[in-house]
Amino acid sequence: MTHIRVMTLDDYDAVLALMRQTPGISIRDADSSEATARYLQRNPGMSFVAETEAGLCGCVMCGHDGRRGYLQHLLVLPAFRRRGIADALVQRCLAALEALGIGKCHLDVLKDNDAAARYWLNRGWQLRQDIDRYSFTRPGNENA
Ligand SMILES: CC(C)(COP(=O)(O)OP(=O)(O)OC[C@H]1O[C@@H](n2cnc3c(N)ncnc32)[C@H](O)[C@@H]1OP(=O)(O)O)[C@@H](O)C(=O)NCCC(=O)NCCS
Repeated sequence: MTHIRVMTLDDYDAVLALMRQTPGISIRDADSSEATARYLQRNPGMSFVAETEAGLCGCVMCGHDGRRGYLQHLLVLPAFRRRGIADALVQRCLAALEALGIGKCHLDVLKDNDAAARYWLNRGWQLRQDIDRYSFTRPGNENA
């Protein structure tokens, strides 16, 4: 039995462990416990974990800037895939955004993550052809 619940900072170690064992998920300094605490505080009740009796099997983080939502780090452990867990996690995020009046959400997918690309296209997300993302990284902090 899998249960979806709000992620708290107490889940940090378990979520990081999930991320470490999942190809396609990149871990940055922005995934430190301090940054995660800040993120969860700024975006309360918007990130979720999937939990079984044996521990966490999935997670997703979601936040917003007041106008748009952003999804990060959606993952489900291989043994638990194709049971609708990712869908349930994403729906909770989209519902939380909608409750704030935010009806559009973005996410980044690594270009070599073909399975993720197939998943998002399959679920009706649009691959943007009309925009390129530009990022500035402070010199000396390449893993920011
Ligand atoms: C992508 C991922 C989160 C999907 O998790 P999941 O729990 O298996 O997804 P769901 O069971 O909710 O899938 C719902 C539907 O999405 C579609 N789907 C799921 N995985 C898919 C894939 N790899 N390719 C195409 N469609 C997929 C299917 O239609 C599926 O329904 P069905 O197979 O029962 O008909 C999971 O494969 C994963 O953790 N991948 C590695 C991490 C990752 O790349 N995350 C995305 C980062 S942007």
